[in-house]
Formats: sequence, structure tokens, C-alpha cells
Amino acid sequence: MKHLAIRAEHLAKSYMVGRERNSFPTLREGLASFRSRRRTVSTFWALRDVSFDVQPGEVLGIIGANGAGKSTLLKILSRIVEPTSGRIIARGRVGALLEVGTGFHPELTGRENVFLNGAILGMSRRETAARFEQIVEFSGIEPFIDTPVKRYSSGMYLRLGFAVAAHIDPDILIVDEVLGVGDAAFQAKCLGRIGELVGEGRTVLIVSHQLAAIQKLCSRAILIREGVVAMDGTPTTVIGEHLRMLQRWADEPIHLRTERSGRGHVRVEAIRIQGRAGPTLISGERACFEFRANGPTDRVRCAFTIYDVLGQGVTSFDTGNSAPQDVQTGARSQVFCCEIDSLPLRPGRYRLNVALTAGDGVIEDRCEGALVFDVQPGLVAGREAVEAPGFGHVEIAHRWVAA
Ligand SMILES: Nc1ncnc2c1ncn2[C@@H]1O[C@H](COP(=O)(O)OP(=O)(O)O)[C@@H](O)[C@H]1O
Ligand SMILES: [Mg+2]
Repeated sequence: MKHLAIRAEHLAKSYMVGRERNSFPTLREGLASFRSRRRTVSTFWALRDVSFDVQPGEVLGIIGANGAGKSTLLKILSRIVEPTSGRIIARGRVGALLEVGTGFHPELTGRENVFLNGAILGMSRRETAARFEQIVEFSGIEPFIDTPVKRYSSGMYLRLGFAVAAHIDPDILIVDEVLGVGDAAFQAKCLGRIGELVGEGRTVLIVSHQLAAIQKLCSRAILIREGVVAMDGTPTTVIGEHLRMLQRWADEPIHLRTERSGRGHVRVEAIRIQGRAGPTLISGERACFEFRANGPTDRVRCAFTIYDVLGQGVTSFDTGNSAPQDVQTGARSQVFCCEIDSLPLRPGRYRLNVALTAGDGVIEDRCEGALVFDVQPGLVAGREAVEAPGFGHVEIAHRWVAA
């Protein structure tokens, strides 16, 4: 251990599920509530047996599908939750930016929370005060620093949370799923600060769906699958394995998929894509994404997001955001059909996540990598849409004119 920053030994974490709904107010993933329907109390293992070492100065990326146990692992590493068994040794001060709001007290102001967080991280009031200005400046939310954080938007939470975690002089910085949230300028700032900490030899652990960021930032990656470390290696090999896994899932018909979350009263049973003349999508041509549910969908909202193969979001669709041209389907309808006149995607491979949300706001079904599809070359407004790695995935109809 002498030369290690972190050692995780056989970490396991179980949750009791099915006691009562309200004991999991923030639980989005469905297994717990799915089981509570049966009113049985059972044990759910979010982490089964996780062991790994992290060297000082290592930048470790942690990837895996939704519900794999990544956030649980980070919460244990930052001592927000106790493992059910196993142990964790961390050398030095741990700064953690976990899911939005973790570690913040809603009734306290931003200012008070900065000091509270400092104290939790073992800083004296004076040490925190010395960094206070820097923290507030970095966060960019100075006008609201004396507002109770319960009035903050999630973006503001995030900004302040990251500013604290990154400035409280951590030996180990733990970041959960924030790259990709917030505006580009703030993201660049976060990446810059992470880079600085790395340059100073600090140890960094990052969870992100942005595989391109993991590839760029990390010296090593681990893949978490159903509560165990499925792979540990270079970012390239681990990301490759993760992509293969998503591809395998997508190859399985959606009604057989078990890697999904949500309450489960209504589920997506089939997905169909339709191009102009069959199941092939072509840039610039008509496209239709069809989601069939296993029951009536009155008051159910359907949303889907298209990602590139590296997990970067391309665009999203949501029946909750309606427009005059939408046609209301009958109350007993089971199909959501999204029609696009001219598909603005460049040729290439894409992935799609889908979620159904009930009228009470509870997620019924969420499926990651629900479908992998390819777009074939075609014309967008008469212009050839060409695959342009690193230059975006969208071909916008446009014209060049004499000025
Ligand atoms: N407080 C909790 N009570 C019950 N189950 C939980 C709780 N927190 C997480 N889980 C479950 O543990 C699993 C892993 O969750 P999480 O660590 O958040 O996954 P990830 O961050 O990889 O998406 C999920 O199935 C989730 O539903
Ligand atoms: Mg998570």
C-alpha cells in the first residue's frame, strides 16, 4: 500500500429493496421499485466484488452501462456510503464531485455549502476561506452565492460542486458523470482544471459516458459490469470492449433485453427504423423511428437520444416537447412513431437510447444501446453528406451565396 493512492479490496454493496417507495426518493433505476411491486424485501447487490489499485498520479476512467455500479463505487471511494463488505484505503485528501447535489445541504446557501464541504474534506475554516474567492470565480455563479442551493438549477449545483471539489486541494479527485453536462466553456474549464491537477501528480478517477474524453484524459480504464470489474487496461482496449458489449446488446431483440431499468409497467417491446424504401437509413432522406410498447401509452412520454459510437450525444427527441404538426395518437395506441423528412445525419454508425416516462414522472423503461443503426451516404439539400470524423455528425441543409 505504501506507494498506492487507492486500494479497493473486495468491495461489495447491497441495498435492501422493496420496503417502501419513499425510502428511495432519488432512485431512478427501476430494479428496486420493480421488485417493490411484489412487496417482497430482497437484497440487491449494486457491487459484488470489486478490487483494484490506483497508483499516485494515475488518471483512471471508469466506464460501464447505466446501473452497472459506477456511482456506488465512487460514493464508497469518497466515503459517502459504507461498503457492505470489503475495504477501501485511500491516501490523502479526497475531493469528490458526485451526482448533482450529493454533499450539498439544500437549505444552506452556496457560501455555507462551500465551507461545509471544506470541513467535510478536512479543511480548516481558514484554509477554505483562503480559496473561497477562487472557488466562486471558477464556478461563475457569484450572484447566487448567498442563495440557498435548493433554488439552484442542476447546472449551478454542478458548477459550484466542481469548483469546490477541484480547489479544495485534493490529493485524489473523484468526478462522476459531469463531463458532457453544462456549457462548452465550463466543460473546457473543468477539463483544464483536471489537466492541471494531473500535471501536479494528483490522482484522478473519472466516470463518464463520453468515451472520447476518457480516451483523451485517462492513462487507464476499468469497465464495470453488473457490479464487478469486467476489464482493466488501457483506455483503448477497455472502450473497445464496452462498445462491443453495447453492440451485442443491440443485436438482441429489445423484448429479450434484461439490461434495462425503470418501473416496468410499460416497456418498449420493439423498435423499427424505416427509410424511404425499407429498413435502411440514408442521409437526406425520409426516416422513421418507431417504438412499440407492450401496452397502452396514454399519458406516457417517449424520448430517445442518438449517440455516436463514442457516446457523444448527437440529438434527442421527446414527445413531451410537442409541436403543431404532431398527430395525437389514440389513447389505446401502443406505438410512438417519429418521422423525419430529411435525415440530417452524416453517414456512419449511431446508437440510440430510449426511455418511457409515465404521467407521474416515473421512468417506466429505459434502455441503453437499444439499437445500433447505420446511415448510408446520400444528399442533404443536393449536397453529398460525407463521414467526417472529428468534424461532427450533422449535415445542415445550406447554400453558399454571392455576398
Ligand atoms: N440507494 C439505493 N437503493 C437501492 N438501490 C440502489 C441505490 N443506489 C443505487 N442502487 C442500484 O444499484 C445499481 C447501481 O447503481 P449506480 O451505482 O448508480 O449505477 P451507475 O452509476 O453505474 O449507473 C442500480 O441498479 C441502482 O438501481
Ligand atoms: Mg451513475
